[in-house]
Amino acid sequence: MNEDIFSQVDHYISDLLAPEDKALTDTIQSIHNENMPQISVSANHGKFLQVLMRSCKAKRVLELGTLAGYSTIWMARALPEDGKLITLEVDKHHAEVARKNIENAGLSKKVEIRIGKAIELLPDLIAQTKQPFDFIFIDADKPPYAAYFDYALKLSKPGTLIVCDNVIREGKVLDRNTTDEKVKGVQKLNESLRDNKSVTATILQTVGAKEHDGMVIALVNNID
Ligand SMILES: C[S@@+](CC[C@H](N)C(=O)[O-])C[C@H]1O[C@@H](n2cnc3c(N)ncnc32)[C@H](O)[C@@H]1O
Repeated sequence: MNEDIFSQVDHYISDLLAPEDKALTDTIQSIHNENMPQISVSANHGKFLQVLMRSCKAKRVLELGTLAGYSTIWMARALPEDGKLITLEVDKHHAEVARKNIENAGLSKKVEIRIGKAIELLPDLIAQTKQPFDFIFIDADKPPYAAYFDYALKLSKPGTLIVCDNVIREGKVLDRNTTDEKVKGVQKLNESLRDNKSVTATILQTVGAKEHDGMVIALVNNID
């Protein structure tokens, strides 16, 4: 099978079930205009995040890695009226572009962007958080993915869903001798899940308009 068919089917699905409105297409356009990397989730994955959120009745959502706010907008739209999403972003320029896009989508009241390194913001979040999160999407830098997952567990309750994007990396995870720090980061997370009794986890392999990849989907059982 060639990759063209994956891309065509991706568009077939998104045309049917995940059409983008102007706020979303404007967000993608802002990524081009601002010379930012085109690494947001696809429309179908945005819709998939919504389905997962709705299945666990997510009211409180945490995202690591905002970029221009594309996945943020998809997720914030699946929140109930009194729902809240906190998103962490290290790059001030990305955060500012995202702020405008989120405002343009009419979601500023539901979304809070925190600027800084996720690894430094997460301990503060744990100290401040009175209520655990229902849904956590990890999509920031890959080397600390295992540490991010441990923090995510501390911010969870039984029933929380934790999703981590880009954990297959076009199959590079199979390379035991890799020197790529991103691959090593996701390998560490993926392997840690095998013995992690706190979650029921799997990895969904993904193909489509974007490169071959995969995402961890972990349901929190109990926290030790
Ligand atoms: C893959 S993009 C996020 C895409 C976004 N979730 C979407 O689908 O629209 C990763 C983002 O994480 C940010 N990032 C990288 N390292 C980070 C860190 N240490 N802490 C927080 N954010 C970080 C990058 O600046 C980038 O905007």
